[in-house]
Amino acid sequence: MSDECYERILHLRAIRGYDDRPIVADDLDRILEAARWTGSSKNRQNWAVVVVTDPDQRNRLAACGDYTDPIRNAPVALALVQEPDGYEFDTGRMAQNIMLAAASIGVGSCPITLHREDQARDVLELPAGSRCRYAVALGYPAADARPARWGGRKPLREIVHRDRYGVPYMP
Ligand SMILES: Cc1cc2nc3c(=O)[nH]c(=O)nc-3n(C[C@H](O)[C@H](O)[C@H](O)COP(=O)(O)O)c2cc1C
Repeated sequence: MSDECYERILHLRAIRGYDDRPIVADDLDRILEAARWTGSSKNRQNWAVVVVTDPDQRNRLAACGDYTDPIRNAPVALALVQEPDGYEFDTGRMAQNIMLAAASIGVGSCPITLHREDQARDVLELPAGSRCRYAVALGYPAADARPARWGGRKPLREIVHRDRYGVPYMP
């Protein structure tokens, strides 16, 4: 892995402010290609992505969650659909691939929870058995976009254990 890739991982932050530009088709295609190549359990790929650009549809999707302003403000929302027998873990991996690929080409992103899944199912017209709990808002970062102030991380010594839970990994 290159230093640049490693730094990208360490500095990835949720971006919630976007400028007015629509996302260039080639940029969006590259992000979707990164999503497609996400690994999944048994390589089932039991997922789908709905690219939501229509403003009315984005607003309808935003109404499905409680903290969804990024979807209202972004030019694109990717609704991540978990198909029957799919795993949420896989969907999470796909979201992270989307966010890292986006960041690497200058596109900001924010994961979004759709707390009211039934409503999201109706909005997206999902088939029976498919669900959509998460979306990712995408847009070129606004000039004044800043990560949230609370966006630090716990130190390793608080989260890493050695051999058994509770045994410090770090002395
Ligand atoms: C599963 C998941 C759901 C999230 N849902 C929302 C959301 O609904 N609205 C939002 O603004 N941010 C959402 N976020 C973004 C988190 O708030 C953000 O990743 C966290 O505060 C850390 O911020 P940072 O990555 O910018 O440091 C979500 C993140 C994850 C991983």
